[in-house]
Amino acid sequence: MASASVSSEHAACARIVESKPAPLPIVVFASGRGSNFQALLNAERAGRLNIEIRALLCDRSRARALELARAANVPAIALDHKAFADRPAFDQALFARAAEFAPALIVLAGFMRILDPAAMSPWIGRMINIHPSLLPKYPGLHTHQRALDADDARHGSSVHFVSAELDGGPVIARTEIAIGRGDTAEQLAARLLPYEHRLLCASVELFARGRIVLKGGAVQIDGHPLAQPLAIDSAGRLG
Ligand code: GAR
Repeated sequence: MASASVSSEHAACARIVESKPAPLPIVVFASGRGSNFQALLNAERAGRLNIEIRALLCDRSRARALELARAANVPAIALDHKAFADRPAFDQALFARAAEFAPALIVLAGFMRILDPAAMSPWIGRMINIHPSLLPKYPGLHTHQRALDADDARHGSSVHFVSAELDGGPVIARTEIAIGRGDTAEQLAARLLPYEHRLLCASVELFARGRIVLKGGAVQIDGHPLAQPLAIDSAGRLG
């Protein structure tokens, strides 16, 4: 009797193992420090995210992100834009390299180049970006200083599907922090960063679970239109 119940437990466990979906193959693009890349890597390695980071692509050969990838045995590829005739040629090469790793999702994690619309268009719906502002506020650069200059009470970061418009694609989720009296742009950026890491991991998890998709140019969650961006709390949960 006891052995029958043990073997039926084994059978149940086997079914659970069998039914676990394959990890989502991902390629990450980064330009610099790579802390968001590292956050994804940590979550993957700790089994908190069902993803497989297949490569890191960089547009700067000295980016620290490359060192982080090499240290983790992730293929680390630097492409120098000066070796290409123009932006479209560089971007075509970049996406061709990414495609070699057959990602289901490309994650722009601190990738600081504007993308050529023709090169990126095949990836619409399969590419997300993290941007350090509460989009649609402050697309582009110097977001922390712009929030301070505007006397905003709150600041934050957004993850959105990438479209041809700079930082303009449909927003999936955001995370917010209060701006402190006397904050500098550097202090604000540093305080926001760990929230960014949790936001990015939570957003990738939603994509990996098939819960969010881009349909008709808008975000859907669990098959329904997303009325407003999801709020991710300080622990990385949907608020
Ligand atoms: C992050 O703050 C990210 O939001 C921002 O660059 C930083 C990269 O940090 N991205 C952009 O500004 C894109 N427009 P990291 O290299 O340590 O991940």
